[in-house]
Amino acid sequence: MSALLEVTGLCKHFGGLRAVDEVSFTVEEGEILGLIGPNGAGKSTLFNLITGVMPPSGGRVRLAGTDITGWPPYRVVRSGLARTHQIVRPLNDMTVLDNCTVGACFGSETLGLSQARRVAGEILELVALADCRHRLASSLTIAGKKRLEVARALCARPKLLLLDEVLAGLNPTEVGRMIQVFRALRKGGIAIVMIEHLMQAVMNLSDRVVVLNFGRKIAEGRPHEVATDAGVVEAYLGDPHIAARLTGPVSDGATP
Ligand SMILES: Nc1ncnc2c1ncn2[C@@H]1O[C@H](COP(=O)(O)OP(=O)(O)OP(=O)(O)O)[C@@H](O)[C@H]1O
Ligand SMILES: [Mg+2]
Repeated sequence: MSALLEVTGLCKHFGGLRAVDEVSFTVEEGEILGLIGPNGAGKSTLFNLITGVMPPSGGRVRLAGTDITGWPPYRVVRSGLARTHQIVRPLNDMTVLDNCTVGACFGSETLGLSQARRVAGEILELVALADCRHRLASSLTIAGKKRLEVARALCARPKLLLLDEVLAGLNPTEVGRMIQVFRALRKGGIAIVMIEHLMQAVMNLSDRVVVLNFGRKIAEGRPHEVATDAGVVEAYLGDPHIAARLTGPVSDGATP
């Protein structure tokens, strides 16, 4: 059986810059894949290519066996792949509930407005934003906006969720809450690709980790393999002793 997501030889050139350079990897159903690498390594660009925000210079993207390379974003979402953005993009003048209802209306299923509202309400419960449902999105804190970004993507009912630095800028309690959400999603069978600089979280949550550097994949494997890979330590993680400790337990906020 083919993988849920299959990325083969994906490239993006901006003039002479190879932002994404022959990158290949797969994501299995229900898997959490960490995507790490230094600033400018090409992580967000890779998401943009997979989700149809920009066409690749080369390579293919397959979702559940269907070639979705170059499909426009609305079709990619319809096919079961949703994402968050590194810079959050709420519809500021709409309520939290309406933001999510929009996400549900343009998701993988064709839903009427009342069904979409019901889905939005359920997802807001899941991400612990239900109490804020009638507030304007613009009034949320950054942590709230990040949860809303995740909620809006989830309302599309994806098989695969691409998360671009949703833990960045959150305090440890907020990180813990978000990690609980990801664990619940995994239990629900949703696969996740997670771009993250917060190493302890990504190393703990991920089944496998892919490392990019200057647009190229420089390593792939289980978290403990990647955390101790000499090339990864040199390109990104720094001190090998700190790197070796990264796969230790991380608080999910459930325990003090
Ligand atoms: N639209 C664009 N036009 C030209 N260059 C771009 C464009 N988008 C990204 N780049 C360049 O491509 C490279 C990869 O950028 P990208 O945003 O994908 O990195 P990243 O790994 O997500 O970094 P960060 O961790 O800082 O978010 C960078 O050198 C960036 O300046
Ligand atoms: Mg980025």
